[in-house]
Amino acid sequence: MKLKQIVQATLAAASLLAIPLSGMAAEVEVLHYWTSGGEAKSAAELKKLMEAKGVSWKDFAVAGGGGENAMTALKARVIAGSAPTAAQIKGPSIQEWGKEGVLANIDVAANEGKWDASLPKVVSNVMKYQGHYVAVPVNVHRVNWLWVNPEVLKKAGATAPSNFEEFFVAADKIKKAGLIAVAHGGQPWQDATVFESVVLGVGGAAFYQKALVQLDPASLNSPTMIKAFDTLAKIKTYIDKDAAGRDWNLATAMVINGKAGMQFMGDWAKGEFSAAGKQPGKDYLCLPAPGTEKAFTFNIDSLAMFNVKGADQQKAQQTLANAVMSPEFQEVFNLNKGSIPARAGVSRAKFDSCALKSMDDMDATSKSGGLVPSFAHGMAIDSAKAGAIQDVVARFMNSTMTSQAAASALVKAAKAK
Ligand code: GAL
Repeated sequence: MKLKQIVQATLAAASLLAIPLSGMAAEVEVLHYWTSGGEAKSAAELKKLMEAKGVSWKDFAVAGGGGENAMTALKARVIAGSAPTAAQIKGPSIQEWGKEGVLANIDVAANEGKWDASLPKVVSNVMKYQGHYVAVPVNVHRVNWLWVNPEVLKKAGATAPSNFEEFFVAADKIKKAGLIAVAHGGQPWQDATVFESVVLGVGGAAFYQKALVQLDPASLNSPTMIKAFDTLAKIKTYIDKDAAGRDWNLATAMVINGKAGMQFMGDWAKGEFSAAGKQPGKDYLCLPAPGTEKAFTFNIDSLAMFNVKGADQQKAQQTLANAVMSPEFQEVFNLNKGSIPARAGVSRAKFDSCALKSMDDMDATSKSGGLVPSFAHGMAIDSAKAGAIQDVVARFMNSTMTSQAAASALVKAAKAK
């Protein structure tokens, strides 16, 4: 083909394309870190829903539990002036991004969908910046869970623990039976996940609130905190030697396949059990982390919306926000993810016993004062302070640092800016 013909052919193709393109809704690009088996299934549901609404989905998945890598990727994109349509950001970080002036006001969708009426205040407050909706919640995860393989307990002659005393009895028996008592991945965010459940179990919700939310120095460096670190040090002795760097879902897999007995992890772990076809109560147990029956550490995943250019892109963004808040999405996403819907008005019918317990416990603890934000999952304090505290915990997990030294290091970390 001659150049003239090529140009003509290209122009003809472009004009043909222009018709459907202008009539078609634009695309949404969504940054997230839902890459494990259960998580990927959940994210795929959102993609399906958007495509059914005529909006194409550009996946911006960045692997790495807890989202640290994803946040690094997000910063790079925002600095380069090419923010995605939405990103999985939560808690106080939403305020940090709001201050940068890069988040989109989605009040139109929120008013149309009556979000204020269908979200608990504890959720809607987090989604707003200066009184305006800038993010949309997908779920509520409970972090203070212990995942248990009942077959392993049986083999070891152990029983399901409800407090730390019973936990260590069970752990001893599992270890004696030649199995791994505690499945864990040595990554800072996983260390922090165990740590916050231990603080909650040892000190109770009021102590947790004072120490890890209000960052009260006297609570951070207190006999109760030292006891929490002592307990963490003891848990360390039940973790296998290959834990360093292990991803959380591989640790969950060890519980699923009976190599290990127990794992401290939020209920995204349930997504892995479900994806493996396992049934709660039969193949695995979801127990409140030892001593935390009356408390609930919440972790709300949400998609924050970034300023996008052009009417098509903005329309697609509104479609995304509406889709995420729809009861049909909140049901199917959370059935796969292991979490519970963030909004009211979703049928409980298809949810399993762990999810129902989570729903009931969230309700009860919101009245009793036991409902507390997860520090390890970015719900309690700003990212600089959370990062510095996480570093102290990781240092404690990977060295011979004493409990006293760790507790006093927390006071300094809590002042990080
Ligand atoms: C949490 C997040 C969950 C899950 C988990 C593992 O912080 O809220 O949705 O992705 O990390 O990456």
